[in-house]
Amino acid sequence: MLSRQVSEKLAGHETPFYFYDMDLLRQTLDSVVWAASKYNFKIHYAIKANYDPRILEVIREYGLGIDCASGNEVRCAIEAGFDPKTIVYAGVGKKDKEIRYAIEQGIFAINCESLQELEVIDGIAATMGKVVDCGLRVNPDIDPKTNHCIDTGQADSKFGISYEKVLEQAEWIQSLKNINIKGMHLHIGSQIRELHVFQYLCDKVNVITENLVKKGFKLDFVDVGGGLGINYDMPENEPVPNFASVFAIINDNLHVGGREIHFEFGRSIVGECGELITKVLYRKDTATGRRLVIVDASMTELIRPMLYGSYHDIENLTSKEEKHEKYAVVGTACESTDIFNESLTLPKTVRGDLLTIKSAGAYGMSMASRYNLHDLPGAVYSDDIR
Ligand code: LLP
Repeated sequence: MLSRQVSEKLAGHETPFYFYDMDLLRQTLDSVVWAASKYNFKIHYAIKANYDPRILEVIREYGLGIDCASGNEVRCAIEAGFDPKTIVYAGVGKKDKEIRYAIEQGIFAINCESLQELEVIDGIAATMGKVVDCGLRVNPDIDPKTNHCIDTGQADSKFGISYEKVLEQAEWIQSLKNINIKGMHLHIGSQIRELHVFQYLCDKVNVITENLVKKGFKLDFVDVGGGLGINYDMPENEPVPNFASVFAIINDNLHVGGREIHFEFGRSIVGECGELITKVLYRKDTATGRRLVIVDASMTELIRPMLYGSYHDIENLTSKEEKHEKYAVVGTACESTDIFNESLTLPKTVRGDLLTIKSAGAYGMSMASRYNLHDLPGAVYSDDIR
């Protein structure tokens, strides 16, 4: 994470930009790889969290596979040097050309999210003269106890095929000649901080797997998705998420025979290594007494606070003032909801101060947009500024 010494070296860079602590990324990868090796769990990185090529390079060196949500993500992973045999691809709305591309590349599994999608894939594979390895993404109906905007495994969610439908249509699914159902996939949501949810997930997966096997599915792998949360409130207290605890819970509670167990982590791998560095442009007060700090970043660089009401810790890197004041930190975009924090206590903040918006490595840059024709933010890597 950004130390004061490092932050002094950032002064010359054009703001706003993402700062990546590559040592923290490596520590995080060391931790996940070490903890997973104990149980021989297979780890995929959910590439949607951050596509930065330097980050992907490090992740590849650690031997992780990739989880994708579009054809272009599959392409990005392959171009970054990941072995197609380590790539999984989920998504409720795969286009025909994306399916064709994934089949051509021979990825590990296409995780299918509807009966109709299975039919479409079977048809496309038939025209290509191939049999495709697929996973069934089952909707297990679990409340992951997270922000509703980012839960994906409840019964009314658009994700996955309902468990009942899979059982009902088991024979039909197995009759599809150009599809080999190789495994089962679930992903119940993101930013899960209550670890007992993973235990509950195991209980459900055990029952689902047992019943699918009874229905004749072989299932070589069970992919339990991602979702492990990070500490947005106090990132310094927990820079590396507790992978060992989650793996211990899964190992103790998941009983799926000798099947390979896969995970797809995004946020927990890259969330804490990235920060958004932004400069204060203006200070002004509204007639109603809102004390505004207007920074040169906005929802176009980091949309999480505006989209989900997410909290990111913010620190003034340059102010040496003793006196603290309460501010609303807002961005430059032409939207009233462009607020990073409505009520934040900072040391007295003035034009030119550098602020860091922490825990922004996941779903920051990858969700950036060019609204208002803003330039996309650059990146600075700790490896380059030693
Ligand atoms: N696998 C699947 C099928 C997913 O849909 C996702 C995330 C992951 C794995 C990785 O989940 P993670 O380990 O990162 O929780 N933009 C939102 C998060 C959306 C997550 C979408 N799916 C945010 O900024 O909070």
